[in-house]
Amino acid sequence: MSDRIHTLSGYIHEYQRSVHQPEQFWSRIADSFHWKKRWEKIVEWNFEEPKIEWFKGAKLNITENILEKHLFTMGDKPAIIWEPNEPGDENQTITFRQLYEKVNQFANAMKAKGIKKGDRVIIYMPMVPEAAIAMLACARIGAVHSVVFAGFSSNALADRINDCQAKMVLTSDGNFRGAKSIPVKAVVDEALVKTKTIENVIVFKRTGEGVEMKAGRDIWWEDAIKGQSTECSAEVMDAEDMLFILYTSGSTGKPKGVVHTCGGYMVYTKYSFENVFQYDQGDVYWCTADVGWITGHSYIVYGPLLAGATTVMFEGVPTYPDAGRFWDVVDKYKVNQFYTAPTAIRALQAYGTEPVDKRDLSSLKVLGTVGEPINEEAWHWYHSHVGKGKCPVVDTWWQTETGGIMISPLAGITPTKPSYATLPLPGIQPVIVDADGNELKGNSVEGNLCMKFPWPGMLRTTYGDHERCKNTYFATYKNMYFTGDGVKRDEDGYYRILGRVDDVINVSGHRMGTAEVENAINEHPKVIESAVVGYPHEVKGQGIYAYVICDLENRTEENLINEISETVRNIIGAIAKPDKIQVVSGLPKTRSGKIMRRILRKIAEGDTSNLGDTSTLLNPEIVDEIKAGAK
Ligand code: WT7
Repeated sequence: MSDRIHTLSGYIHEYQRSVHQPEQFWSRIADSFHWKKRWEKIVEWNFEEPKIEWFKGAKLNITENILEKHLFTMGDKPAIIWEPNEPGDENQTITFRQLYEKVNQFANAMKAKGIKKGDRVIIYMPMVPEAAIAMLACARIGAVHSVVFAGFSSNALADRINDCQAKMVLTSDGNFRGAKSIPVKAVVDEALVKTKTIENVIVFKRTGEGVEMKAGRDIWWEDAIKGQSTECSAEVMDAEDMLFILYTSGSTGKPKGVVHTCGGYMVYTKYSFENVFQYDQGDVYWCTADVGWITGHSYIVYGPLLAGATTVMFEGVPTYPDAGRFWDVVDKYKVNQFYTAPTAIRALQAYGTEPVDKRDLSSLKVLGTVGEPINEEAWHWYHSHVGKGKCPVVDTWWQTETGGIMISPLAGITPTKPSYATLPLPGIQPVIVDADGNELKGNSVEGNLCMKFPWPGMLRTTYGDHERCKNTYFATYKNMYFTGDGVKRDEDGYYRILGRVDDVINVSGHRMGTAEVENAINEHPKVIESAVVGYPHEVKGQGIYAYVICDLENRTEENLINEISETVRNIIGAIAKPDKIQVVSGLPKTRSGKIMRRILRKIAEGDTSNLGDTSTLLNPEIVDEIKAGAK
């Protein structure tokens, strides 16, 4: 049974129902899943503590709703199509039956190494089917996965392992990305020097490069599964048992472990997937994200597979071997729904329309974007050149914390408007508040985006620190979940996301805390103080601009800038490297010693005409110096 909405009036009807009778609404949707025991209560919640429970008392295993469910009805249907980094290399198709076997076999392999329900397992892998298999195998036995994007540094990996006290790491020898090969296992080895809890590392052979295998700790994937049965009974999970932890950046220095649970996440990802993308059985769906991000979790792995969809996994990058790669893959697999980030669209736009025009993209029905606001120009380019004007563009707004898509058109149903995420999905109740938390009712209003009612896919806590969850999301405005985003509701009631209102920046769709980057910069021994802000960047959406005060003794400015950049790469990863570093002799501060970021942001934007009143600063003279040296 599918809960697909087919018409605009159907959407309006469902939306109204979801608001007026949320329990009946979600109960009907949840009924289409296989539960080992039915819930006692659909939802119990308060945003004070916060405490949020969905499908309370229910028992299930999410993998039975992917594997057993589709094994009997469509075992031979491709579940995962894998396209390798190198276009000519052998690709792979994994049917639902094969997926069932591979997941169970790997689940048994982990069990044999002592992994049991509740244990945390880190997945630090390239975009290969085994990454998805690993996630599902964890879910099969009730282990909690925490996928760490394989571009993060050994320090960042170690921090995450330590925070969740993980017992096992799943990784690969190396990782192909475009023309590069990255020595992933070596990064893991480096990280494990700084951790104490890892008992075993299972290594998937991908690049074949030499790696060190530590006796008693490290084991090859192929050896781990040898002799293991392809049957593994699914652990009985409570609806509110943890499914996974995913680390994400906030406005403070340390990334937090967002916790999602089994029942609600399952219901919400499948429901949102089917409705937003309007997936029809037999379609081929492709999301270009990495499984290291929430988009990969919800819309490469869980959502599509729960819906019995064929999901494409791509190992490479958009511009390798050339800027037509995405379109080659669309043509090769006759992709019907294509989901990517605005930053990728803008990057490809720079190569002109030839790479797009040369390929046959007639299979495309739906185009999606996610991760950051999409500018109108990129929206039109995507719509006209990729979609040939015939594919609805779904601009999907959501967050790691929300688990699934929250505000988005339903493809072909909701009339779209460039750069608008349009309307909330059924079950989602957005409110716009002013700085004091007053709800701004009606249309043509602008303010901070909050949610006033829970939805099944929302986060439950931040791992090991519930206070932090409360303070970050539930303490700013009473009885509301605060998203951190600014938003406008226009005269038609359509939502347009304006970007973060906190100290979080969004670089190529990757979320970063300015404090996190500052902390990394400050690790350089010659750095005295730093301030990081975002600035508009043509391709990345936002770029990272760092102002640093440092001790230049025995170094040229250029050398130091390079060293600082390397330090950031080492501490966080290449994605956090500043685009611009300006050495300054001071930072503009208030009399109480607070950095005036507003001024720094303006200078980084190149807008120095109106810096406001700087006379009350502790050091007003610094502003001219910074302006003069701006990059
Ligand atoms: C932040 C969440 C959710 C998947 C990827 C990012 C921004 C996300 C949109 C969009 C404008 C968007 C928001 C949000 N964002 N989608 N369609 N339009 N902004 O997940 O890393 O948790 O980041 O990304 O600022 O708060 P994330």
